[in-house]
Amino acid sequence: MVFFADLNFISDTFRGSIEPALRYATQAPEHDPIPLLSMIAAVTSHVGLGATFSTSYQHPYYAARMWATLDHLTGGRAAWNIVTSLNQNQAANYGQDKLDPGELRYEKAHEFIEVCQQLWNSWDEDAVVMDRQNAIFVDASKVRRIEFEGRFYKSRGPLNVVRSPQNGPALIQAGTSPKGIELAAKYADAVFAIHPRAEDAASYYADVKNRVSALGRNPDHCAILFGVQPIIGESEAEALEKQEEHNSLVTVDGGMALLSGHLNFDLSALSPDDEMMSKTEPELQRARRVYRKENGESMTVSEVAQRHGQSVGLPQFVGTASSVADQLEAFFDRVGGDGFMLSPIYCPGAIEEFVDLVVPELQRRGRFRTEYTGVTQRDHLRQED
Ligand SMILES: Cc1cc2nc3c(=O)[nH]c(=O)nc-3n(C[C@H](O)[C@H](O)[C@H](O)COP(=O)(O)O)c2cc1C
Repeated sequence: MVFFADLNFISDTFRGSIEPALRYATQAPEHDPIPLLSMIAAVTSHVGLGATFSTSYQHPYYAARMWATLDHLTGGRAAWNIVTSLNQNQAANYGQDKLDPGELRYEKAHEFIEVCQQLWNSWDEDAVVMDRQNAIFVDASKVRRIEFEGRFYKSRGPLNVVRSPQNGPALIQAGTSPKGIELAAKYADAVFAIHPRAEDAASYYADVKNRVSALGRNPDHCAILFGVQPIIGESEAEALEKQEEHNSLVTVDGGMALLSGHLNFDLSALSPDDEMMSKTEPELQRARRVYRKENGESMTVSEVAQRHGQSVGLPQFVGTASSVADQLEAFFDRVGGDGFMLSPIYCPGAIEEFVDLVVPELQRRGRFRTEYTGVTQRDHLRQED
């Protein structure tokens, strides 16, 4: 799957100014990924096509219609990363003076998805009959209103889009709070996770799978994909040089701007030399959880910011193609994940290197598919080996 993250603002969270975000291009600009997915769909035939779409600022009818349409255009390869958007700039861009608290955003998200699913189900699979002889396009008894009336949303339905190949897109979630994980366990076909240390990843994996099972779902139907940033060289030395060059390009201020936006917390309020581990502010707990030195020691605020700017917390797997394949295998065997989400260090080029050099190595080792066994994105995510 090719996946595009998304947000709907230029962050001024760091120092109350949009200057650092613009200067260091920290997720600015950020074009709408949905039209882009339609273009990619036109020139590809198998790869899954995913993007983020927030549940906090649109009506679910719009989302259900847009995603069903994209699922048609991609022949069932669409995937929606469901986020609730935690930065106040996004709320402000949509006319809200104050960001809703996280718990409320997730309650709305549950209802939002519920409305979307009811709208996708408002057309039976066999509703379109195309009966020329009797002049019937759709059997009207197979398309229903939904008459949804919830706490946050109302929608009459039915959807005005024919049931799509996957009946809506595959659903992805990347929340890290208990509410976020609960949403993932209930609905997600895949979860994006960032856990640099294998032991944390293993307990997260077990926790999410248990929650999926507890809700009566098949745990194999919720794939957990761990984020990794591969850095590949022809020799170990070349790979290390690349890593050094890449990481040194990230300034502390650039990292601060990116991380401040992602935490919805102005890091300029802290001393850059403070230990992140000592921080008790609720907004900083996510950074505290992800960032520690290899030896488990705490990092300073500026070290955390710079690391975030380098890879948003993804572990960097550095080496030759064979060594990167070893590291992927070791993580996979230790954690039991269902796959990886890869973040390229440059575009174009880094994903191409992975595909040309590491994928054949993983295939030789029997660790990577050699052909598609299904057609839709959900098929790809559920592929058994
Ligand atoms: C791999 C990954 C990708 C994410 N992509 C986006 C994104 O594109 N847009 C966005 O607003 N949030 C994105 N997030 C943030 C999450 O949706 C979520 O807000 C964040 O992890 C905090 O979780 P919580 O809201 O459950 O506390 C991403 C998170 C992860 C781990």
